[in-house]
Amino acid sequence: MGKNIHPNVFKISAKDRVSRLEQMPKLIWFTGLSGSGKSTIANGVEARLFEMGYATYLLDGDNVRTGLNKDLGFSNEGRIENIRRIGEVAKLMLDAGLVVITSFISPFVKERKMVAELIGEEKFIEVFVDCPLEICEKRDVKGLYQKAREGIIKNFTGIDSPYEVPNNPEVHIHSDTEELEVSISRVIKAVGPRLKINS
Ligand code: ADX
Repeated sequence: MGKNIHPNVFKISAKDRVSRLEQMPKLIWFTGLSGSGKSTIANGVEARLFEMGYATYLLDGDNVRTGLNKDLGFSNEGRIENIRRIGEVAKLMLDAGLVVITSFISPFVKERKMVAELIGEEKFIEVFVDCPLEICEKRDVKGLYQKAREGIIKNFTGIDSPYEVPNNPEVHIHSDTEELEVSISRVIKAVGPRLKINS
């Protein structure tokens, strides 16, 4: 801890907020290549949970990187710091009692583990959006793979920067063969029971 920093003890605790919101705060962590469909599925999952009455918040790569993390690039160090900050923000949101959904490439096993340990393993639900590189590249929704192949963008995940596949994700989605609604339902089925207050 930093010098001269003394955490305060507040009157309202995380437990109080759990009672108020009547939900168990969890972090649903989507990981996968750019263009794998993470954000689309994460968005659908948030919408379903919101309709079910949960208080949710979605943190997404492209949004966070234009705000909080706009000073960070895509070197290994930049990506590690990106994930570290997202982990800290998610931790605060969990403390606030929310169901947090994140959508970041988060290419390294070590940083995903770091987040799980930071917030508490039991709160971390990893969802691997698995889509072959060739298909992400063929879709190339943002035109970034082409730029990466041309060398205009350096350190692009899957091209000249690695992606480490999760060892044991709680939900493994094959977004190249699975319908969007099926993927969303599979996530809801896996996380739904764990959000209930007496689970
Ligand atoms: S992460 O690796 O640090 O987790 P993050 O999810 O925040 O990445 O951002 C990924 C998004 O940034 C991609 O979907 C893409 O739109 C954009 N992007 C820009 N440059 C790169 C790059 N070199 N590698 C991967 N994605 C990039």
